[in-house]
Amino acid sequence: MKRVLFLIITVFIFSILPAQKFEKLAKTPPMGWNSWNKYQCNVSESLIMSMADAMISSGMKDAGYQYIVIDDCWQISRDDSGNIVPDKDRFPHGMKYLADYIHSKGLKFGIYSSAGTVTCQRRPGGFGHEYQDALYYASCGVDYLKYDWCGSTSQDAKSSYTCMRDALFTAGRPIVFSICEWGSNKPWEWAGSVGHLWRTTGDISDSWNSMIEIFEKQKDLARYAGPGKWNDPDMLEVGNGGMTAEEYKTHFSLWCMLSAPLIAGNDIQNMTPEIKSILMNKEIIALDQDSLGHQATCYRDNNDYQIWIKGVSNNEKAICLLNRSDEKKSVLVDFSLLAQVRTPGQGFEGFGGPGAPPPPGAPGMPPMPPPGTPGAAPAQSRPGTAGGFGPRNRAPLTINNLIVRDLWDHKDLELKETAAYVDLPPHSVKVYKLIRK
Ligand code: GLA
Repeated sequence: MKRVLFLIITVFIFSILPAQKFEKLAKTPPMGWNSWNKYQCNVSESLIMSMADAMISSGMKDAGYQYIVIDDCWQISRDDSGNIVPDKDRFPHGMKYLADYIHSKGLKFGIYSSAGTVTCQRRPGGFGHEYQDALYYASCGVDYLKYDWCGSTSQDAKSSYTCMRDALFTAGRPIVFSICEWGSNKPWEWAGSVGHLWRTTGDISDSWNSMIEIFEKQKDLARYAGPGKWNDPDMLEVGNGGMTAEEYKTHFSLWCMLSAPLIAGNDIQNMTPEIKSILMNKEIIALDQDSLGHQATCYRDNNDYQIWIKGVSNNEKAICLLNRSDEKKSVLVDFSLLAQVRTPGQGFEGFGGPGAPPPPGAPGMPPMPPPGTPGAAPAQSRPGTAGGFGPRNRAPLTINNLIVRDLWDHKDLELKETAAYVDLPPHSVKVYKLIRK
């Protein structure tokens, strides 16, 4: 009785507030695990519980992974009152029991539905039941909702997702809202006030081509991402067996450069040490989780060789060299030049818009104009004095005041000169952080 009264009062309070998304959530890209990529419809209470256990025992929770999300196929029908009914054979104790178990491990619980009449596996969708479902999710203790676009026919995407956002808000439990509309209606243009993350493309599959094709589609989307609103290039395939370890390293690095949600999709109970070292590379994860939330931009695009740059806190930056080709490459990298590239949020809206040319002085480009002339690099200055660039007016990073750290080798480079040759095997990356001394 008390619970019902509490629910009614909560719903009343939230229904008189203007509906919005829950603002304080997902300030950094969500990290967790989702059942779909590995198990598809083969989900069950015992599987989800053992994944929660493995999240702890494998060290993933300590590395920052938090959400355990059941994707499609947990639901089977609606009852006479329209309430969603979980599959009793697979989830004998119901969803609240599972949520309680996951919460008891210090983790968070995510669930899945679709904005249409059916989900992609033809289970009941949320259309017309948004408020009823939102109340159900809140009463179970759901913390994260992935909301798909199957069964949607002629619905308007923005209003459909806004309706579910309002329903979640009215139900009163803070729930991360993950929009899964596959980028069909350019969600980056409208979803920032609707959800916390939005898929930008169709589904990923466990292959190099699929992964790299999706990555390419993120190029022009950096300006839409930030704390509480993330472009989602889909869940991780790391550890599912269809790519080499080198390719998985690339996949993981690129997602972290993009500030993408890190939702593992493999069997985290049985991971080789190599896969563990990828999914739990804390130095790379720190780039993803950087509090500024800047998505990397493409600074140099030679098609099969690209340089991506991401501004991170303390006016530092991360550099990712990507070899997309099937051949080994040896590239000359001028670190002091890269250190001077201004990234979005550092007083310049970044290079790497579609077809944007590299700046003067970039590798292969004419030299920088002399100091003091238009387009010149900012004058050097002592730390903390005017003349540097960036919000904190810190001195620009130069070879004299920076450490170049290799985030996969976990070592600082010993640079004798500002430029060095770097070897890149096929389909590989090098990820460096330029750290202020
Ligand atoms: C869609 C989504 C996937 C997954 C499946 C489940 O294809 O994009 O991520 O949720 O539905 O049926």
